[in-house]
Amino acid sequence: MKKYAITDIKALEIIDNRGMPTVRVNVNVDHKYWGRADVPCGSSTGSHEAREIRDGNARFRGKGVQKAIENIHEILLPKLRGMDATRQQEIDYLMLELDGTGNKSRLGANAILGVSLAVAVAAAAAGRLPLYKYLNADARILPVPQASLVNGGLHAGNDLDIQEFCVMPIGAETFGESVRILCEIFYHLKDLLLEKLGKSATNSSEDGGFAPPISSTRQAMDLLLEAVHRASYSDKVVYGLDFAATGFYNPEEDHYNFEGSQKTRDELIGFIKQLLGDYPSIVSIEDPLHENDLEGMKILTQEFGDHLVIGDDMFATNIKRIQKGLKLGAANATLCKVNQIGTLTEALETVNFARHKNYTVVMSERSGETEDSILSDISVAFNAGLFKTGGIRGSDRGTNYNRFIEIETELGSSAVYAGENYR
Ligand code: PGA
Ligand code: ZN
Repeated sequence: MKKYAITDIKALEIIDNRGMPTVRVNVNVDHKYWGRADVPCGSSTGSHEAREIRDGNARFRGKGVQKAIENIHEILLPKLRGMDATRQQEIDYLMLELDGTGNKSRLGANAILGVSLAVAVAAAAAGRLPLYKYLNADARILPVPQASLVNGGLHAGNDLDIQEFCVMPIGAETFGESVRILCEIFYHLKDLLLEKLGKSATNSSEDGGFAPPISSTRQAMDLLLEAVHRASYSDKVVYGLDFAATGFYNPEEDHYNFEGSQKTRDELIGFIKQLLGDYPSIVSIEDPLHENDLEGMKILTQEFGDHLVIGDDMFATNIKRIQKGLKLGAANATLCKVNQIGTLTEALETVNFARHKNYTVVMSERSGETEDSILSDISVAFNAGLFKTGGIRGSDRGTNYNRFIEIETELGSSAVYAGENYR
């Protein structure tokens, strides 16, 4: 038997931070080492993402993942058993072939990704290495967290249209310090929201930020800036907004329902121009237009090339989508969400391709996460300068912050916090 042979795979249906079922996979290597991984899931998912499989029956209102799990046990395990777990690319490509659809809709992106990730974790365990080191022996960059402390859109029960108002502590010296800065801003923001808007304004959003009962982008920015000022970190942080604009776009009538009125693309672009002019510390805009408006993204990229103009739903961590963007000059950065593409190998290929074409890569969590901290290891292995996360509360978020702190400590003096060099 091969030294790192896959000897078993056990998958199960667990729940994520939103009470949604998801897939957990345990891969066994050499009858000895187990590797475990959970599959993340978005709320504001784009149409170009790899397809996860949901059961569609009465259980969990159709959201169960028993079929995906059956596919792991009955289709993937028999083919993968005996394969060398260190041959990640070979394993991932075999799964693509077995699926055969191009978007993973037969076996399910949730089935395939769970196995892909757990194989890497098991191989790392068998090699007695932490995952980030197993994936990249030279890994040492700790990313700037892009933490969404105020939420709207599909992530919050309020009327803010923009999904995420993120704080990026680029002036911290270490990742650990960046977390402390975020926490202190978070405490001040909580006090401020209580003071100005009352108790209900301190309620949590879906991914651990605040969901205050406001509807104005500028009011959200002003609250955030005030909290940062009170925490005395105005000189250490910059800001990023995830518009997730597909969420407020009406495709039938081709307009955006934004801040109480219907806006054309040009009107929304006009709003963004004014906003960025008035708030010069906003350095990053993500999905400012709907996922198929590459033309509009080109206009914004030309105008704001010194900002990060990030494609998330627009690119879906997919090389083919990024190629389309490149042709037009749309965006200058891409998010990398492993479940948008569905295997570790393809996620790395996308990252390499994007960097080769001078796109900045931002690793990212989904709104639906578990206690699994695998994305931190992957981020460090991929040398990402930015890591987009939810807020600062909830162990679904804490697990990644804490894992980065652990990795930074483990790397000691060789650790490099991306800081001002996040691009
Ligand atoms: P999602 O949101 O995980 O709900 O898709 C995150 C994002 O849009 O960046
Ligand atoms: Zn996004």
